[in-house]
Amino acid sequence: MEFSKPIINIIQERISHRTYSGHSLEKVLREKVLNLLENHDLISPFSKYAGKARFRLLSIPEFNSKERKKLGTYGFIKGAQDFIVGAVEKSQYSREHYGYLMETIILGATDLGLGTCWLGGFFNRSLFTSKINCTSDEIIPAITPIGYSAQRTVREKVIRSFAKADKRLPWDQLFFEGNHSVSLSKEKAGKYSKLLEMVRLGPSAGNKQPWRIFKVLTRDTFHFYTINPKDGRFLQYSKFRPIDIGIAVSHFDLTAKELGINGNWIIETPQIPGADDLIYKITWNGDDKK
Ligand SMILES: Cc1cc2nc3c(=O)[nH]c(=O)nc-3n(C[C@H](O)[C@H](O)[C@H](O)COP(=O)(O)O)c2cc1C
Repeated sequence: MEFSKPIINIIQERISHRTYSGHSLEKVLREKVLNLLENHDLISPFSKYAGKARFRLLSIPEFNSKERKKLGTYGFIKGAQDFIVGAVEKSQYSREHYGYLMETIILGATDLGLGTCWLGGFFNRSLFTSKINCTSDEIIPAITPIGYSAQRTVREKVIRSFAKADKRLPWDQLFFEGNHSVSLSKEKAGKYSKLLEMVRLGPSAGNKQPWRIFKVLTRDTFHFYTINPKDGRFLQYSKFRPIDIGIAVSHFDLTAKELGINGNWIIETPQIPGADDLIYKITWNGDDKK
């Protein structure tokens, strides 16, 4: 996907918007959004391990009045007239794959000056499932409204403050070197610090930031994991964590490409001391030979 400005700026600009102007996308922008969906290669580092994904732009006029009411009763989004809805074939890595792809679309929308908000829980899944003719082999992991964002309402401010949406965990809780008890500092990360910082700024369900990344001591290799808490408070987030890691991988991958840092992705469980409580997802191997 091509962006009009540096991806680092777009990642920093993107935040969730839950209040929209109530106006549908005007013609030129609608075409640009359709272009974004139609010209997307729909490839991610998880492609080899996941089924196919597809995305559609759905607009309020496509819903009848009964459906519109159902749409309105769900969730925290106000005034949205357009939505991007996708489906992905069921497979072991379908949610990770979808997370990567949807985030690239969301960043593309941010680049166009449009507001978005990942919605994994609070939308009428069965309504959207029938609207995009989902087969029994497909799931809709999440959707996003897309449109002109309006000034935040009190309700939105409360949601953001509840989710601590503007905060992120510090480096030493997210990034490690060699094993789980040694954190990776920005200084030690060197040219990779920008890539990891872009991961850190990413959105995640409930802003839980479940990604944990380990750099191998002697190599430019990064293993991506998610936390795996067993207590009830976190269980509701377990189906979102694969999406969150897809988002993290997209930020790392897009930033690496932009900065000309070459490497490739592989899924091959490593042995990391102290990582037994985490779930392994994917590894990035840098091409730079030391
Ligand atoms: C997979 C996923 C699912 C999400 N689901 C919802 C949701 O159902 N409702 C909602 O209001 N926000 C949802 N969010 C948005 C997060 O709450 C938000 O990204 C996080 O609080 C960080 O804020 P920011 O996006 O403004 O940086 C979701 C985010 C992700 C990544």
